[in-house]
Amino acid sequence: MGRLSRRGLLTASGAGVVAGAAATAGAFLLGEAEPPASAAPAQVVDFHGPHQAGIATPVQDRLHFAAFDVAVGTREELIALLVSWTRAAESMTAGRVSAADDSGEALDLPASRLTMTVGFGPTLFERAGEDRFGLAASRPPALADLPPFPGEKLDPARGGGDIAVQACADDPQVAVHAIRTLARIGLGRVSMRWSQLGYGKTSSTTPAQLTPRNLMGFKDGTDNIPHDDHTALDQHVWVGAADGPAWMTGGSYLVARRIRMHLEAWDQASREDQEATIGRTKTEGAPLGGKGERDRFSPAALPADSHVRLAHPLSNGGVRLLRRGYSFVDGSDTQGRIDAGLFFLAYQRDPRRQYVPVQRRLATDDRLSTYIRHVGSGLWACPPGVSPGGHWGDTLLGEKA
Ligand code: HEM
Repeated sequence: MGRLSRRGLLTASGAGVVAGAAATAGAFLLGEAEPPASAAPAQVVDFHGPHQAGIATPVQDRLHFAAFDVAVGTREELIALLVSWTRAAESMTAGRVSAADDSGEALDLPASRLTMTVGFGPTLFERAGEDRFGLAASRPPALADLPPFPGEKLDPARGGGDIAVQACADDPQVAVHAIRTLARIGLGRVSMRWSQLGYGKTSSTTPAQLTPRNLMGFKDGTDNIPHDDHTALDQHVWVGAADGPAWMTGGSYLVARRIRMHLEAWDQASREDQEATIGRTKTEGAPLGGKGERDRFSPAALPADSHVRLAHPLSNGGVRLLRRGYSFVDGSDTQGRIDAGLFFLAYQRDPRRQYVPVQRRLATDDRLSTYIRHVGSGLWACPPGVSPGGHWGDTLLGEKA
C-alpha cells in the first residue's frame, strides 16, 4: 500500500492541484497515490522512539481513551492484532489514512499531533487464574491491582480492560477516528469495554504554555513534570533497566481515574473556601500567601487539608507523577446534575510507590474529597516505544506475527 496523505493535497497550493485533489481523493482511498511533500510536518508527532509518544509529549487539546478486552484465544492471534494496530497507528499519527478501507471522517484533517499510547492491563497477563497467553510470569510486580481507596464508588462498567489506548490530538475527530479505527480493525478480536472522551486538557507538560484550567476554574498542571526535564522523567516516569521486568525498560505505568466533580456544591462554596481547598489562588494560581503562579513556596505553609499541600512531593517523600488529564462533560445524570469532572491520567515508574500512597493520603485527608468522587479506574503497563518495523507488543510477546 502507498503512503497515503490525508490532507496533503488540500494544503498544496494552486487551483489545479486542489481540483486534482478532489479528482484523486478516490485514488488516495484506494492506496494508489503517494503523499505530496507538503503534509504539515509540524503537526506530526513521531510515532517511533525509545518511549511511546503521548506520555512526555506536550499535551494535546483532545482525548479519546478506550479500554479493550481481548477476545482471541492464542498468543499468535494477539500478536497479529497488535501488529495490525501498530501499522494503522503509524499511518494515522503521520496524517495518513489507516488503510485502503479507511472510514474517512479524518480525510481532510491534518495529523493534529495525534499520539496513540498503549498499555497492558493485569487481566491480559492472567484472568480469573487463567494464563490466557502464557504471560503470567511476565506480569510486572509494579502492575499490582490498585487497592480500594476510602470514598471511591467505582463503576465496574468504567474500569479495567486488557488493553488501553490513549489517543490524543488537537482535533477531536482525529482522536475519535484513531480509536474507532482500532475498534474496526479489531472487530471480532476485541470488544470495547469502556471509553472516555476528554477535552480541555487539565495539565500542561510545557511551562511555556499558559497553564490550562480545570472545571473547578483553577489552573491545573503548574507543578507538573515538564516534557523536557529528562532527569525528572528518568527518575519518576520511565521504567529503568534495573527496575525490571526487561520488557518494560523505557515504558511507564498509567493510572486512569474518572473523577466526578460535584460542581453544584463547588459553585456554592465561597472563593475563599475554594482557594483554601486547593491551596492556591483561583485567578493567578499562586500558592496561598504568594503572588505569582511560579512563586516558590513551602507546602507546610498551606492549609493542612489543602490539595496542593497533601499532593506535594515534599509531603510524599519526594514522589512525583506526570499528570495528563482532561476535563469531561458527559451530559447530565438522572438527578439533573451535570455529569462532569476530571479524567485523571498519570504516568509513573511504579504505582506502588507513587500513585497509591499519594491517593491514600488524598482520599482520607484532602478537603477536595468533599467535592469529588472517583467513579472509574484502571491501571496498565505501557511498554517502551516502538522501533520502525516493530509492534506495540514486541518486547513482551516477541517480534513475529
Ligand atoms: C478532580 C480531582 C482533582 C483536581 C480538581 C485537582 C486539581 C489540582 C490543582 C488545581 C492543582 C494545583 C496546580 C498544579 O500544580 O497542578 C493540583 C496539583 C496536584 N495534584 Fe491534583 N487534582 C485532582 C486530583 C488529583 C489526584 C487524584 C492526584 C494524585 C493522586 C493529584 C495529584 C496532584 C499533584 C501531585 C499536584 C502537584 C502538587 C505540587 O507539586 O504542588 N491530583 N491538582
